[in-house]
Amino acid sequence: MKNADILVLDFGSQYTQLIARRLRENGVYTELLAYNANLDEIKAKNPKGIILSGGPASVYTKDAYFCDAGVFSLGLPVLGICYGMQLMAQHFNGSVEPAKHSEYGKAKLKLVNKHALFDGVSDDSVVWMSHSDKVEKLPQGFSVLATSENSQNCAFGDDERKFYALQFHPEVAHSEFGAMILKNFSKICGLSSTWNMGSFAKEQMKILKDKLGTHKVLCAVSGGVDSSVVAALLANAAPKNLVAVFVDNGLLRTNEAKMVEEMFKLKLGVELISIDASQIFLKRLKGVKDPEKKRKIIGKTFIEVFEKEAKKHEGIKYLAQGTLYTDIIESSVAGSSKTIKSHHNVGGLPKKMKLKLIEPLREIFKDEVRALGLELGLSREVVYRHPFPGPGLAIRIMGEVTKERLELLRKADVILREELKSSGWYNKTWQAFCVLLNVKSVGVMGDNRSYENAVCIRVVDASDGMTASFSRLPYELLENCSRRIINEVDGINRVVYDISSKPPATIEWE
Ligand code: XMP
Repeated sequence: MKNADILVLDFGSQYTQLIARRLRENGVYTELLAYNANLDEIKAKNPKGIILSGGPASVYTKDAYFCDAGVFSLGLPVLGICYGMQLMAQHFNGSVEPAKHSEYGKAKLKLVNKHALFDGVSDDSVVWMSHSDKVEKLPQGFSVLATSENSQNCAFGDDERKFYALQFHPEVAHSEFGAMILKNFSKICGLSSTWNMGSFAKEQMKILKDKLGTHKVLCAVSGGVDSSVVAALLANAAPKNLVAVFVDNGLLRTNEAKMVEEMFKLKLGVELISIDASQIFLKRLKGVKDPEKKRKIIGKTFIEVFEKEAKKHEGIKYLAQGTLYTDIIESSVAGSSKTIKSHHNVGGLPKKMKLKLIEPLREIFKDEVRALGLELGLSREVVYRHPFPGPGLAIRIMGEVTKERLELLRKADVILREELKSSGWYNKTWQAFCVLLNVKSVGVMGDNRSYENAVCIRVVDASDGMTASFSRLPYELLENCSRRIINEVDGINRVVYDISSKPPATIEWE
């Protein structure tokens, strides 16, 4: 198991992952664990400090979440943020109460004295608040480090035990000196900024090599950046142990299978075993309309295909996947956040699996994976490909997936990508695709009435897929896409543009 410099216990705040991001950006390797991780699990990571995240609950209600109280007896510095602050206060017999007014948004930080936690932080700087409870009475041994207009106990600490607490969210970009405060905490933990993607690559390669020993690993590649980076890690760490497999599930985009095979051979020097499993996937999806059912069928079928292939090779014990942190939180296996979608490689996996999983990217985010890919020498073309979900076009066809509907969607999707590439917009966006709606509408073509399918264009800007906003594409570009799709794809007579952000929508439609 890999050590973590700092461990963040996740109490379900939507910003928890940003705490880890900010620290890693500052050269401190940080991982997240669920709030209720047991003490042995925490100790096994050998952290030098612990952060308790924010969360939606109130510490004084029966729905409150608590971490193992032993966290405060490890002799390590602990930083509580928002809910984490209130939990710390309550644990040490301070008092927490509902605030008179909930406080959301910007506030001014008033520093009380000079303190290592606020080294380099300007007095009166902006911090970002999101809370409806407050710490009314400080626990014994703690003193106030900063106040704000609405929070007398905005930051407090106990230097002897190195326990600190912040009412505001330093991880959020609106907190002007937030990243510096987190860095200061890491210094209090005795850490220096030595970690980078190069160290991550080296550590992961060593872990992979040690773990595999003489066993082989089947690496599931999709041609996307995540699985390509996992394959590159394995190809560097243990090339002889690697069996790289690409499954055509019949839900791919036009020419995808051919492109992936060529890319692996030419760009990564990895010989790919291609399996055409399209018939079995499509058979199992017949008549299925429910998004979660589709996802689970696809996840299970992938594993069956991998296990069947593994039997053909001697000594395969592991299955390597490009699972990211985002896949894990949205499938809700990390902390206390709710299930949004079962990502095919996480919540979509069958309970019993013969192959053991290896997921070297499960702690990091897409932009970090991209940096790792460049570190491993992958080309920018591979590293900056738009993400494509494992369940493929199945979750971009509303309702039943059939060969005919897949074909319609493929044709529209090719046109969209051609137009984005030729106009120079492809690389300016995070992701762009078409969705085939389960809606038919009336049109007029020539002198005739048509009653055909509608397609939605979805193009978004994002930095890690956790949040996204629709791309402000020029109207002329949208018009070209719409005109070409309606003229060139028989069976589509209407094109709409999705102008929803994530949240509250998601990037994919299912
Ligand atoms: P959502 O739709 O959850 O998507 O906003 C966020 C990002 O994740 C991709 N995605 C998936 N990727 N397996 C994957 O490999 C999946 O099951 C899956 N579901 C969504 C999506 O394309 C977007 O980039």
